[in-house]
Amino acid sequence: LSDTFTLVNGVEIPCVGFGTWQTPNGEVAVESVKVALKEGYIHIDTAACYQNEGSVGKAIKELGIPREQLFVTSKVWNTERGYEKTLAAFEETMSKLELDYLDLYLIHWPAIEKQFPNWKELNAETWRALEKLYHDGRIKAIGVSNFLPHHLEALLETATVKPMVNQVEFHPGFTRFDLIEYCEAHNILVEAWSPLGTGNVLNNEVLIDLAKKYSKTVAQVCIRWCLQHHVLPLPKSVTESRIIENAKVFDFELTVEDIKVIDEIQFCGGAGINPDEVNF
Ligand code: A2P
Repeated sequence: LSDTFTLVNGVEIPCVGFGTWQTPNGEVAVESVKVALKEGYIHIDTAACYQNEGSVGKAIKELGIPREQLFVTSKVWNTERGYEKTLAAFEETMSKLELDYLDLYLIHWPAIEKQFPNWKELNAETWRALEKLYHDGRIKAIGVSNFLPHHLEALLETATVKPMVNQVEFHPGFTRFDLIEYCEAHNILVEAWSPLGTGNVLNNEVLIDLAKKYSKTVAQVCIRWCLQHHVLPLPKSVTESRIIENAKVFDFELTVEDIKVIDEIQFCGGAGINPDEVNF
C-alpha cells in the first residue's frame, strides 16, 4: 500500500486509496477508517458531500499517525462552486478534518451546460480557488472528479495550473477508455471511484472464473485490474475482513489476455453515471 503513482508535479500518491463514499458518519466511519489505517492504508478519500470528514479526522487524530505519513483527499461540493464559496468550503473541510493541509483537493462534479449556461465560467472560478490554495501551500495537489474530456478542454482554456488528477467512475463494465486515454495524454492521473461497481460487479461470472484462476477474490481482481491500467483504485468498505482483503493485491499479476477479457465485460452493475446528465 506504500507503492505510489507520481503526479505531474512530483507528488507521490499511494496507489490504493481507502474510499468512504456511502460510509455513514459517526462510529462506523471512525472505526472503519481506523481499521484501514491500522492495516496499512495511508491514502484516505473523503468529500464534503459524504458528510464524514469529521469522522475521518477523528480516526486520524485518535490513532496519532504523523500527518506527513498520510495522504488525504477531499472534494468541494456542487453547491459551493465559484471562487469565494470554494475558498470558504475548503476552510470548512479543514476544520472538520482538523488538518492544516490537504494532499489533494478535487472539484467533485463539473458544472454542466444542461444546468448552467455559464458552466465554463463556473468551473473556471472554482478552479481558480483551488489554484490559489495550491499556491498558498494549503494543498499539495489539485484536480477534478467526473470531468469528461470537453469539461477538461474548457477548464484548460483558463487554468494556470493543470489538473493533476481526475477521479471518475471506473470498474469492469464501465470503462470509458477514451476518457482514460485523454487523461493519460494530458498527464492527469485517473482515480477510480467504485472500482467494485458499488459491490454489484462481484457476481459477474467472467470475474468469478478469473478470480478462481488466480486464487483471489473478485474484489481483488477488480482492484488489480485498475492498477494494471494505471488507474488508482479507491475501494470502499466498512467491513474489517473486506478492508484487509482489498489491500492484498500486490502478490499477483493479471496477464495481458485476462485484462482484455475484463475490458470487454458489458455493464453489469454500478452507478453508470453520465456526468453530463446528472441532476445534483
Ligand atoms: P461494505 O462497505 O458493507 O463492506 P465500491 O468501492 O465499488 O463503491 O464498492 C463498495 C461496496 O462493495 C460496498 O457495498 C462494500 O460493502 C462492498 N465491498 C467492498 N469490498 C468488498 C469485498 N472485498 N467483497 C465484497 N464486497 C465488498
